[in-house]
Amino acid sequence: MKKKRKIIIDCDPGIDDAIALAYAAANPDDFDILAITTVSGNSTIDVVTRNALDLTEFYQIDVPVAKGMADPLVRDARHAEHYHGKNGLGDCIIPHSTRKPAEENAVFYLKNIIMDLPEHEKVTLVCLAPMTNIAILIKVFPEVKEKIQEILFMGGAFSTGNVTPSAEFNIYADPEAAKIVFKSGIPLTMCGLDVTQKCTLKRSQILKLCQSQNKIATFAGDMAGHTLENTFEKYKGQISVHDVVPLMYMVHPEYFKYTETILDVDCSDGPSRGRTICDFRWWNFEEGQAGDLVLTDADPDSFQQCLIEALYELGDMLEEK
Ligand code: RIB
Ligand code: CA
Repeated sequence: MKKKRKIIIDCDPGIDDAIALAYAAANPDDFDILAITTVSGNSTIDVVTRNALDLTEFYQIDVPVAKGMADPLVRDARHAEHYHGKNGLGDCIIPHSTRKPAEENAVFYLKNIIMDLPEHEKVTLVCLAPMTNIAILIKVFPEVKEKIQEILFMGGAFSTGNVTPSAEFNIYADPEAAKIVFKSGIPLTMCGLDVTQKCTLKRSQILKLCQSQNKIATFAGDMAGHTLENTFEKYKGQISVHDVVPLMYMVHPEYFKYTETILDVDCSDGPSRGRTICDFRWWNFEEGQAGDLVLTDADPDSFQQCLIEALYELGDMLEEK
């Protein structure tokens, strides 16, 4: 019997974050979600936290939501309403939850929940947004590191960018935070644009989701449809569902290819700001030094089928409750 993995999801919902949360909720045999934490990214901290609270109620995920940092460590906050819509969910409306976030800031909440884990238990952090919360957590409470099994994150790339030609949004938004996480010594798995841009939903699949009678499939289809009709994704006829990848990789590693690396990030202010650097020179690695993995390829058909099935499954699960 496969052991459930204890996870904490740090996110900035956000359309693909919202779809990723649905994927996690659809896999209760794989994930024991301990908490969801939010951070400024796709939209302001208030909007992404509101969305996280509403999504946990909509998906009936009974876990706490803790509100995190409103700004990056050093840089000015930048958001992506042009992509995720004014309300952060593609202007799709779900019922407003009466749930409230945890009293304490996400950084303190993370420290408490991690340090309260039973002696031999560890947690996996799934980072789907700028890494501001995680960087502060590691710096202020370094004792958490031994209780973190690994960090899987959607961010970066070794061959491309989306905010600039060389940088991906989550890293570009707070490169200093990424640097702290990359140098922490915690094992990392990077799910960068090289792979997440292949992990899409096609126009025909989005239309089918929108026309379904399944409330989760319809909701995901409507959000994806917003992106398809209002952003550059329309020219591709499909949308990348970036944030699902770290979660699906944990359930179906066979859908992906990956290799060892050592991660770094450019914190300059030049054209390479926020560029992630993957060192593949394995012959230079000290014994045991390369604790990081980077995804290098994905099977789009398997990703699409698995995600669509999960969306319908969650909708069916909620119908039966
Ligand atoms: O570059 C894609 C990433 O930036 C995703 O996490 C998306 O939600 C945005 O935060
Ligand atoms: Ca995100």
